[in-house]
Amino acid sequence: MLGNFMYYNPTKLYFGRDALESLGGELQSYGKTVQLIYGGGSIKKNGLYEELMEILLACGKVVVEDGGVMPNPTSERVKLGAKRAKENNVDLLLAVGGGSVCDYAKAVSVSAYCEEDFWEKYYERFEEPTCKIIPVGCVLTMAGTGSEMNGGAVVTNREKKLKIGHVFGSNVMPKFSILNPEFTYTLPERQMVAGIYDIFNHICEQYFSGDDDNVTDYLAEGLMKAVISASYKAKKDPHDYEARSNIMWAATWALNTLLNKGKTTDWEVHMLGQAVGAYTDATHGMTLAAVSLPYYRHILRYGLHKFKRFATEVWGVKCEGTDEEIAEKGLAAMEQWMKELGLALNISDLGATPDMIEGIADATRVQEGGYHVLTRDEIVKILTESL
Ligand code: NZQ
Ligand code: ZN
Repeated sequence: MLGNFMYYNPTKLYFGRDALESLGGELQSYGKTVQLIYGGGSIKKNGLYEELMEILLACGKVVVEDGGVMPNPTSERVKLGAKRAKENNVDLLLAVGGGSVCDYAKAVSVSAYCEEDFWEKYYERFEEPTCKIIPVGCVLTMAGTGSEMNGGAVVTNREKKLKIGHVFGSNVMPKFSILNPEFTYTLPERQMVAGIYDIFNHICEQYFSGDDDNVTDYLAEGLMKAVISASYKAKKDPHDYEARSNIMWAATWALNTLLNKGKTTDWEVHMLGQAVGAYTDATHGMTLAAVSLPYYRHILRYGLHKFKRFATEVWGVKCEGTDEEIAEKGLAAMEQWMKELGLALNISDLGATPDMIEGIADATRVQEGGYHVLTRDEIVKILTESL
């Protein structure tokens, strides 16, 4: 393991069919007023909202409603939530939903008492919060982002056409998260597979960096294999508890600060995907899927040893032929899997048009931890190939 690092993750997880039973106990640790944050209504349709209200009221909480958080939450919406939290002197932000709702809760937690413009402070200058932070708890209903156990809060600024993530420290991570795989059963298939690809790509983003023999890479390969195996089963039967629970647990471990240990990490697929998202408001996992293959094929020769290992260890490609041939077969196997899941393989399917390419390229941040640092021309080329 190279480098010096500290490992600490304060989020307490409750996992399994009975996980929600632990919410009442957790709520005892916080004051009376709870801001209940949720999305566009899925929790009202599947009955989770009523269950939660019952628990909250039985615990004597005053509930401040904050529903209607959109996928890819906007800076305008965060401002509204922050105002609501401050005005009501909220003691706990309880996020019930997927990554959008959890990220939004974290953004609200650091913005309610922020005296400056939160977007400029956290998303332009990347400063850390110095104000009071409201604690966040999560009840997860969609597996994918890992937001339930990390400090990430991705916010879209529609006016500036930017979608940016700030990874906050352990003081902003959820205090607890409730993970019942059955809560994900009602997800539309498109969202389920987008989440599955998001998980897989989080692992790739960390795996495709570094040259040393590293425990983290072996963990990553195991997680990737678990995700692939469970994905086929969940696609066939969305109520396959074993598969949905493996997907949910893998999602958490794919992005909860474990897999970046001893790694420089890449994250360029996310930078490209988020820029596409800023222009199209498309589903996060789909934006990643649509840019991944052109990107990986472009950088393959710079990280050949790792792409070869990816092919043989993750996809079971036989060690026959040149290193390039083996590595390419690995990406071909990944492409086949992506097709079988029904993922978007082109950004034009997500609403991107050729005239947007220059703007999307401008919105793409360049990362330096992977096998190759992209030039602007290369970004344009990859985006054009993704159309
Ligand atoms: O809003 P509702 O009605 O709840 O519907 C949601 C939403 O339309 C629906 N949904 C969620 N759970 C459901 C359900 N529908 C039926 N049954 C359920 N059980 O699914 C749709 C998508 O939800 P969303 O929260 O947007 O999805 P996801 O979890 O993929 O989150 C995406 C956001 O997270 C950010 C993305 O950029 C995007 O903004 N990310 C956060 C990260 C982090 N915190 O570390 C890292 C990721 O790379 C990602 O960037
Ligand atoms: Zn992601």
